[in-house]
Amino acid sequence: MSTHDIVQDYYGKTLQSSDDLKTDACCDASAVPDWLKPLLANIHGEVLSRYYGCGLVCPELLEGCRVLDLGCGSGRDVYALAQLVGPRGEVVGVDMTDEQLAVAEAHRGYHADQFGYDNVRFLKGYIEKLDELDLEEGAFDVVVSNCVINLSPDKPAVLAGVKKLLKPGGEFYFSDVYADRRIPESVANDPVLYGECLGGALYWKDFIRLSRAAGFNDPRLVEDRPLAVTDPALAERTGNIRFYSATYRLFNIGELEDACEDHGQAVIYRGSVPGHAHRFDLDAHHAIERGQVFPVCGNTFRMLQDSRFASHFEFVGDFKYHYGLFEGCGESLPFRSSESVGEQSEGACC
Ligand SMILES: C[S@@+](CC[C@H](N)C(=O)[O-])C[C@H]1O[C@@H](n2cnc3c(N)ncnc32)[C@H](O)[C@@H]1O
Repeated sequence: MSTHDIVQDYYGKTLQSSDDLKTDACCDASAVPDWLKPLLANIHGEVLSRYYGCGLVCPELLEGCRVLDLGCGSGRDVYALAQLVGPRGEVVGVDMTDEQLAVAEAHRGYHADQFGYDNVRFLKGYIEKLDELDLEEGAFDVVVSNCVINLSPDKPAVLAGVKKLLKPGGEFYFSDVYADRRIPESVANDPVLYGECLGGALYWKDFIRLSRAAGFNDPRLVEDRPLAVTDPALAERTGNIRFYSATYRLFNIGELEDACEDHGQAVIYRGSVPGHAHRFDLDAHHAIERGQVFPVCGNTFRMLQDSRFASHFEFVGDFKYHYGLFEGCGESLPFRSSESVGEQSEGACC
């Protein structure tokens, strides 16, 4: 059986709802933020019951955007994002499993009635072969994915496909499972651990390397939480490996460097992103308060100036001078342990 067959079988036949999962890897245990609750309330119960995501893939400022969801499953995120992009935007969901797509498609009419518009499409396909789907290159503002890349047997191909489809300044904003080390074959070849999103998890540093090789030079960690392998038999097989769910944002900006360089620049947030009047969180290490002159590295400056966020900031400085590496840019494990969740992370700045 190929990896694709194993995964299709798991999500098409073995699992009928999130209750059937054996770990909390593929089902987001984090609290639903208040602003998301009314959006989820508009989504059909069957779609909600087949949600297998591991994080929140709804970045800020989506109105009017074109969004692509890789491994959309039964469509929970597609239908949440459809409300955020609104009638001027569009959300396209891609998945390879018929049973998942059938649920998503079955409720399209229901959601069109709920929202008052129909702005979603579902396509059957492999996320490693996005070029077979007749999607326009450079046409998506945002690509999202929720707990899927770990399941892919060819992760470099996925990242390369995403890069082609994103607009300049667009971003890949996605939640996935990572490990604190490379996964041994005994774990990777276990069909249940693979289906549960653990066997195919990338060692976090290899993920950074793959991202850079695909042209996403400065992956930014947005959120993370440690995962528990609660089933004793599965825990025995995974041993000391520590797993994390993490959300990264990868901007499609060619000029980004592989380190945070200090050019003496700063940004000032105008407080104008809807729902974020007081603070804009670019990532886990950049909480930018309204009106504050906030020193940034060259990469952060570009992520804000060359993306859909530009009009919400004032920009101070340029790239004329260079003062060396931006202080606090490090290389250690970026995720928080179970003990430190809830406390301020002390990891690297990016
Ligand atoms: C863990 S579920 C997540 C589904 C959805 N994102 C959610 O949050 O409910 C993984 C989904 O990715 C799909 N998938 C896995 N590998 C894929 C691939 N290589 N190409 C397309 N879809 C894939 C599976 O069919 C399944 O629906």
